Amino acid sequence: MAEVIPSLLSADFANLGSGIEQVVSAGARTLHFDVMDGRFVPNISIGIPVLRSVRKITQVTIDVHLMIVEPEKYVEAFVEAGADWISFHYEATAHTDRLIQQIHNAGAKAGVVVNPGTPVSVVKPVLSVVDHVLVMSVNPGFGGQSFIRYSLDKLLELKELKAKAGSGALSEIDGGIGPENVELVVKYGADLIVAGSSIFGQQEPARAFQRLQELAGSKPIMEDV
Ligand code: DX5
Ligand code: ZN
Repeated sequence: MAEVIPSLLSADFANLGSGIEQVVSAGARTLHFDVMDGRFVPNISIGIPVLRSVRKITQVTIDVHLMIVEPEKYVEAFVEAGADWISFHYEATAHTDRLIQQIHNAGAKAGVVVNPGTPVSVVKPVLSVVDHVLVMSVNPGFGGQSFIRYSLDKLLELKELKAKAGSGALSEIDGGIGPENVELVVKYGADLIVAGSSIFGQQEPARAFQRLQELAGSKPIMEDV
């Protein structure tokens, strides 16, 4: 069953503990933690000290999405602060394989992220070593943007590439996902579905999460689309 992962980017940071408690009580097993540096993306978000505080109040898996230049400089610091998974942008490093190894050596699961304008086939060489591939379905940097429709084709292509390679990597999608399209991304092969504004932007985040999770799991993943 596909897993819905709340993105803390859309939470109220003054009441972050309460926001986390609400979605975790509603069944969230993983939290998505967006790190932006104002260089790789045109926005600045949260980083290591906030992650450390979040780690202290929850045992759930923390999925750190680095939208930063020179991600190799910060891997160990993020793992030390509590990251379980670390994903970096393919576009942000010349050394995809080396960085995957570095993340694994630091003790975390490693993911590679591709921007909307980057072909998903760039991950083909590393499919046997990477734990997850994140297909961005908005241009990274902001919550609340519209879903880019051609991301579905990329999910499908990723599913085919993984099948050919015998890869066990999970397919993650991030951006513009809500009740109107969550079933669609599952149908096209998403295993992990990140959702920010459609959970924390709602009156009742716990209910919004549960509804999305039900929709994501209500139909079996179709093999042929
Ligand atoms: C965007 C971030 C996303 C963001 C998604 O750059 O990577 O994780 O929180 O927000 P929504 O779900 O509102 O599009
Ligand atoms: Zn993200």
